[in-house]
Amino acid sequence: MDFSDFGNKFRGGTGIAELMQDLASTQNADGQPLHELGGGNPAQIPEINATYANLLHQYADNPVGFSRSSARYGAPQGEKSFITSLVKLLNRHHNWSITEQNVVLTNGSQNAFFMLFNLLAGKHGSEHKKILLPMAPEYIGYEDVALGDSIFVSQRPIIDTIGEQQFKYRVDIDNLQVSSDISGICVSRPTNPTGNVLSNDEIKWLDELASQHDIPLIIDNAYGAPFPNIINVPCSLHWHNNIVLTLSLSKFGLPGTRTGIVIARPEIIDALTQMNAVMNLSPTALCAGIIQPIFEDGSVLELSNRYIQPFYKQRASDAMEWFETAFAGLPARAHKIEGAIFLWLWFPQITISSAELYQRLKKRHVVVVPGHYFFPGLDTDWEHKQQCIRVNISGNPDSIKTGLNIIADEIRTLT
Ligand SMILES: Cc1ncc(COP(=O)(O)O)c(C=O)c1O
Repeated sequence: MDFSDFGNKFRGGTGIAELMQDLASTQNADGQPLHELGGGNPAQIPEINATYANLLHQYADNPVGFSRSSARYGAPQGEKSFITSLVKLLNRHHNWSITEQNVVLTNGSQNAFFMLFNLLAGKHGSEHKKILLPMAPEYIGYEDVALGDSIFVSQRPIIDTIGEQQFKYRVDIDNLQVSSDISGICVSRPTNPTGNVLSNDEIKWLDELASQHDIPLIIDNAYGAPFPNIINVPCSLHWHNNIVLTLSLSKFGLPGTRTGIVIARPEIIDALTQMNAVMNLSPTALCAGIIQPIFEDGSVLELSNRYIQPFYKQRASDAMEWFETAFAGLPARAHKIEGAIFLWLWFPQITISSAELYQRLKKRHVVVVPGHYFFPGLDTDWEHKQQCIRVNISGNPDSIKTGLNIIADEIRTLT
């Protein structure tokens, strides 16, 4: 069959598609259960699941809410009552002054990035504009979203080693260039896959850089404050007209509901709203309708601070301990977990590619994500791209421990 160039882009296999396929499989070809340390599934936290179940009952029993957000098409901007409650909550919490004109809902924030990146980058008349990712590694899901040619530029980070077994990336501010073909800067904070949280100074500097060049700074806040607040270090969050902030309900525990949020200047919100209409008629309103009461009364923040944040903080500390024990004496380092739900492992002396390591681990029933997918926009030949893997730490603790021991065993034979 003769597909378009656009269609063929997806047929060769993309990193995100491989990751999502892995996520859907629960056992290997030989029928053995897998240690599922790939994918981006959040933890199942009982109090969060129970809250959602209660809200679901209330919603089903309330004919007004049900008829408004389920039994009719919603507005292309997204469920109005949810947006109003969210605006009041964010203004109260952050002392901002956003209005409903600053918010649009999307079918997950992945969908928001597809629209946002193609809105800003790609063909601008005779020019081809790009998005600057100030440092790689960055989120795998950005990689293949461009409608046309590649739209990302990135650069290597500075690597600080910490003790014998940890490290941390920093933006190489002195070498960061914003050329005339850059139409936006984007960072995930906390960063998927590394668990890095860009410091307030790094964000301030990027914010000023974006303003100087009259291009927006996009902050992907999928794991950030004030919900789900999976952050273990002090950091603050600002918004103004030149910042595009994306949020998601996925890491709050509701990835299946596909609900994303964009906060930006009205011009951007209007464009995304029109795109929503063309692509989806309107974004899904079901979850927004169900969950609206906890945004109205603010309890989404308490749930995040009381259950989600402490869960992941403890898990990060446990996972680091399991890693340090399993890899003691081996040439392996883990990125400091400042936020998010992953351990990012670096094997500086490994002799095979991250894809080969992934395959070898899969044969031993451990599913991780090979690291080379997390370098969108970084074309340079850098061996580090082949030396890392991402491990999800939100699942079953025994599986994580066993998985880490198996990975350590492989690394022992390979270095
Ligand atoms: C940094 C980051 N951004 C965006 C997304 C997309 O999330 P969703 O489409 O579920 O809102 C993810 C998902 O894992 C992520 O890790």
